[in-house]
Amino acid sequence: MQRTLITSALPYINGIKHLGNLVGSQLPADLYARYCRARGHEVLFLCATDEHGTPAEIAAEKAGKDVAEYCAELHQVQADLAEGFRLSFDHFGRSSSEQNRKLTQHLAARLDDAGLIEEIEERQMYSPTDGRFLPDRYIEGTCPNCGYDSARGDQCDNCTKQLDPTDLINPHSTISGATDLEVRTTKHLFLKQSKMRDALRDWIDSKTDWPVLTTSIAKKWLNDGDGLQDRGITRDLSWGVPVQKGDAPWPGMEGKVFYVWFDAPIEYIACGAEWADAKGLPDRDWQRWWRTDAGAEDVRYVQFMGKDNVPFHTLSFPVTMLGSGEPWKMVDYIKSFNYLNYDGGQFSTSRGRGVFMDQALSILPSDYWRWWLLSHAPESSDSEFTWENFQTSVNKDLADVLGNFVSRVTKFCRGKFGEQVPGGPAYGPQETALMDELQSRLEAYQANMDAIEVRKAATELRAIWVAGNEYLQSAAPWTTFKTDPEQAAMQVRFALNLIPFYAALSAPFIPDTAAAMAEAMNVAPDWPSDVQSAMTRLSAGDAFSVPGNLFAKITDEQREDWQQKFAGTRD
Ligand code: MF3
Ligand code: ZN
Repeated sequence: MQRTLITSALPYINGIKHLGNLVGSQLPADLYARYCRARGHEVLFLCATDEHGTPAEIAAEKAGKDVAEYCAELHQVQADLAEGFRLSFDHFGRSSSEQNRKLTQHLAARLDDAGLIEEIEERQMYSPTDGRFLPDRYIEGTCPNCGYDSARGDQCDNCTKQLDPTDLINPHSTISGATDLEVRTTKHLFLKQSKMRDALRDWIDSKTDWPVLTTSIAKKWLNDGDGLQDRGITRDLSWGVPVQKGDAPWPGMEGKVFYVWFDAPIEYIACGAEWADAKGLPDRDWQRWWRTDAGAEDVRYVQFMGKDNVPFHTLSFPVTMLGSGEPWKMVDYIKSFNYLNYDGGQFSTSRGRGVFMDQALSILPSDYWRWWLLSHAPESSDSEFTWENFQTSVNKDLADVLGNFVSRVTKFCRGKFGEQVPGGPAYGPQETALMDELQSRLEAYQANMDAIEVRKAATELRAIWVAGNEYLQSAAPWTTFKTDPEQAAMQVRFALNLIPFYAALSAPFIPDTAAAMAEAMNVAPDWPSDVQSAMTRLSAGDAFSVPGNLFAKITDEQREDWQQKFAGTRD
């Protein structure tokens, strides 16, 4: 049995994700996980909340909550939304878990043993008012280059000059507004990534089948002098994985935590341990996915993420894994995505611009969103959500094509033959021709899904639905019935057989609708081995029921209303 390990980039804990976040990682990962399961793979699909770092601390402070309590709450919120979108994780973990703390501390110790860690004294901005060292992006001031008065400590958004916080004129804390900032010295652990350049290059070069987007980003950072600079992996914060050498203290590092980007990807592995623990399974059950000395060499590991995450997954995290000298399962394929824009601009979490996961589910069922997002996934370039486009896709693809097909044939059958599959003669030339077409489309669809070509797969699936509609239109059993009821019975039997076939193929994209279709036909939505046999799944006399309306059309009033409602600032 083929074994497939799938992870989605871990969503930050601080707030509800928008549809752009969703389509760039969790949703296509779910599509692929569902497809692999349907094809009989053994799948482990993992995701978790990424909980550490200053943004989480600040969000908690704003909410007037203790950070651990805040994270626990937001984790539950995100878990519920994931369920609402039918994201079929085997486990949705937390980077703040005990398992991740242990593994992060363990890996840091291994890296240190391998001579890959160095202690470095740094000068950093400290804010006595905030009681913390300020990360660069929490400091603003006037740009020494162009005079822009809200330049950030890392970069000026106006003239794009890269800055150091000490360059800013009149710097202040964006958290409290405090201006009494001072420079303090502090000691941090640095990971000597540059020592691993050759190992990384060999590894990346061996990945000849990666998508261009992934490889081009990986190579750019690998070859660009900045990409593999030694990287600080600790911070002066209180919320995070305490810096320890395995179980032992790390002298001089008391009170510090690991940097969020160090511990977050380690949670991919720790999430496997969380999964096993939650199910009461022994360690070897997660290790057979994650350690090549425990069975993971025959696992295929696929990661999903937005393009901004690629450097961390092709450089930093592999440094951690390779540098540890332990037999961790490395990623085999990285599927990365461009950005989804929103109605003429960008989705913006800070300005509340766009549609967020909770809002989306409050106006329409998840299948509507899943279909639109996946069929417009930003693969070869950025793509854009507009309400017009969304309305058109839903109304045409889902309501007019798929929904209408199912409703027409089941209702017609109920009216003329009752709620059971009618008999009639064997399939004729028209049906055979369609089966031939569907067979080659099925193969194309599978090839696209195997290659994780999401949009192409959606296009093929849509074409499969359209073919059924066209058949119904041209066979026209309602006309045939007037002169040849037996022939009409066969046509209806054929069309009814398309419903379980569609249910199986559509389930990775629109699982709820697919389940409703299969249920109406009283079958399990099994993946078809070939079209011929799929089309004899239902025989004369099998009972079915007419499902409720599968999709409602989006009206112009709704569209205009939503367009206004989601134009800015959510409350
Ligand atoms: N939280 C990060 C983001 O949303 C992704 C972390 S992926 C991980 O961009 F691998 F580091 F966990
Ligand atoms: Zn500037």
